[in-house]
Amino acid sequence: MARDILFSGIQPSGQLNIGHYLGAMKNWVRLQQDFDCLFSLVNLHAITQRQEPAELKKRSLDFVALYIACGIKPEQSVIFTQSDVPEHSELMWLLSCHTYMGELERMTQFKDKTAKNTDNINLGLLAYPVLMAADILLYQTKAVPVGNDQKQHLELTRDLATRMNNRYGDIFTLPEPYIPSVEAGGRIMSLLEPEKKMSKSDENAGNYIALLDSPDVIRKKLKKAVTDTDSEIRYDREHKAGVSNLLTLLSGATGKSISTLEADYVGKGYGHLKVDTGEAIVALLEPIQTEFARLRNDETELNVILKSGADKARAQARNTLEKVKTAMGLL
Ligand code: TYM
Repeated sequence: MARDILFSGIQPSGQLNIGHYLGAMKNWVRLQQDFDCLFSLVNLHAITQRQEPAELKKRSLDFVALYIACGIKPEQSVIFTQSDVPEHSELMWLLSCHTYMGELERMTQFKDKTAKNTDNINLGLLAYPVLMAADILLYQTKAVPVGNDQKQHLELTRDLATRMNNRYGDIFTLPEPYIPSVEAGGRIMSLLEPEKKMSKSDENAGNYIALLDSPDVIRKKLKKAVTDTDSEIRYDREHKAGVSNLLTLLSGATGKSISTLEADYVGKGYGHLKVDTGEAIVALLEPIQTEFARLRNDETELNVILKSGADKARAQARNTLEKVKTAMGLL
């Protein structure tokens, strides 16, 4: 029997960090058992911000190698580059004509990005969630594992699918988001400014732990992580954002629950928590980094994986696109 479809993607911008891993990729790996999965490198999303072409190309291959090093199995799941499947852009246009300006203008990420990139407020930034909806709906996706910051985009995707289905008949599967709770890693916060999300485009590298940071760099970054003036190791996002984030990271890296960790650290200081969290992340990332180095050495193989992934994705994408065009009366 055919299994339900799972789709997710990451933009090849900045550096992949522990937030992406705990918020999204860890679930990708786990859910491969239960779904037919497509994992895309969503490079058309990345160009909503200025990219240096040579750097984008190199980084894209880094990300693909990291997908695999983290546990995505190319012989089982489809790994592909968004720009290799032009049906994404085509479906986006069809969806655009059914998306209201007001819906896009109120998106939090659009507001954040336009506030940050005042010299490049382009149409793509506004249309971004429509392309994301096209990515998902194109494959009749049932499950979308993402971090908490993508919730609003997923809600818009579901609204668009419902709107189109009501107008044209059942053309799209209604996708369900898979978002870990904040405690379980759905929203990993910045190390130095724990009130804001850990972000791959942060100018200060001290704010995030890149999946490719060396063990020493990881240990140093954690030592500098901001905590508070109190000394109690307790999970409380509102009043103890930094300590709570460290507990989430340690829990994500070791698999121990937050309450077990709180009990383990009674009477211990923040220094202990930082050192242990650093060591746990080093241990988590070590095998990933070793595997990355091996895979990244063979660009030909990575390109073969991407080519085969794009062929498989296109075959599925064409079916949906034909269905939508026919339903809409496009000859
Ligand atoms: P992107 O590239 O910003 O992030 C990739 C994934 O990582 C999650 N994430 C986090 N999770 C927890 N804590 C954090 N600090 C953190 N930072 C990022 C994101 O939620 C995401 O799941 N628009 C998407 C990419 C995309 C997509 C799609 C995803 C395009 N089309 C279709 C799913 C389905 C984005 O910018 O993710």
